[in-house]
Amino acid sequence: MGELEEQAVLEVLRSRHLSLGPRLPAFEAAFAERVGARYASAVSSGTAALHLALRAVGVSEGDEVVTSPFSFVASANAILYERAKPVFVDIDPRTLNLDVDAAAAAITERTTALLPVHIFGYPADTPALERHGLPIVEDACEALGAVHADGVPVGGRGHPAAFGFYANKQLATGEGGMLTMGSAQVKETVDSERNQGRAPDMGWLDHDRLGFNYRLTDIQCAIGLAQLQRMDDMLAARARAAGWYREALADIEGLELPCEDADGNVRGWFVFVVQLPRGVDRDETIRALAADGVQSKPYLPAIHLMSFYRERFGHREGEFPVCEDVAARSIALPFFPEITESQVAEVAEALQTRLR
Ligand SMILES: Cc1ncc(COP(=O)(O)O)c(C=O)c1O
Repeated sequence: MGELEEQAVLEVLRSRHLSLGPRLPAFEAAFAERVGARYASAVSSGTAALHLALRAVGVSEGDEVVTSPFSFVASANAILYERAKPVFVDIDPRTLNLDVDAAAAAITERTTALLPVHIFGYPADTPALERHGLPIVEDACEALGAVHADGVPVGGRGHPAAFGFYANKQLATGEGGMLTMGSAQVKETVDSERNQGRAPDMGWLDHDRLGFNYRLTDIQCAIGLAQLQRMDDMLAARARAAGWYREALADIEGLELPCEDADGNVRGWFVFVVQLPRGVDRDETIRALAADGVQSKPYLPAIHLMSFYRERFGHREGEFPVCEDVAARSIALPFFPEITESQVAEVAEALQTRLR
């Protein structure tokens, strides 16, 4: 947090307009402009954005939503909130995003939406999914700053796209989220449902539908607005750090690095996740790195193999081999905009020593 954010928060506190004030539409407009979306609705988290998006495109009980098992658990949980079923398909080994051919094969007459996740900020092949003519909800929680091959920023294709502003994200308001979209009707529904189902042009206490409290405060909107002003610099700092890592880790045999931008796709850098060489004990490596003062963590576990999903849907090892292989070997290395080149070199050195 910098001075800009501090100043912005103080102004809100002094204005005494702490929620549903002027910073809300201002943040929404600035964010929509940033990703080239027609509309945006600020909400209390990325998960809330996903939930309202699924409701807005009509996902309901018994429906199927095709999605990736290699994601943060919230993208699948949001489907369950509406008593619909996440239908997982395997991932592309290069991008780690939903395999679009597997997604096509998983579509049935009960499929009401597709939910691609732009994992680790790399654009999912949403244009390929658009051919099916089904509603698409994008999980862009890790992907602010990413751009699709055709030059459209992630979040700007018109489908509802959910962004998250948790403390570690490219844009961080502590907690928070944003849904971008191209449809005025979706915007109207989402704005009402985030605010207890209040009818937009009626009095406070008239609620014409079921709603939630998914509001984002004006304090958080003010922080978001301030961060948007610095966003180019913050994204560039992350991209620079990723470049240092790429160079420093290039010679470690068998270590797989995040895929390079290809075909015009641009990653919005969020984390730096590597896959350890096959046969290396990951837990032991993480412990050894910690002993050298380097914090790392297994990231991400496969959703279908989490105990809740196993029990609920009977998932087992072997269903999605690419995802399971990647999930078993991945570790996230220290990565934040302020990281220095020498810190990156120290991490690389520690990893190299351990993997020798
Ligand atoms: C891929 C993905 N989806 C969904 C979420 C949920 O966002 P939030 O924590 O803001 O609810 C996150 C963030 O943690 C995420 O990384």
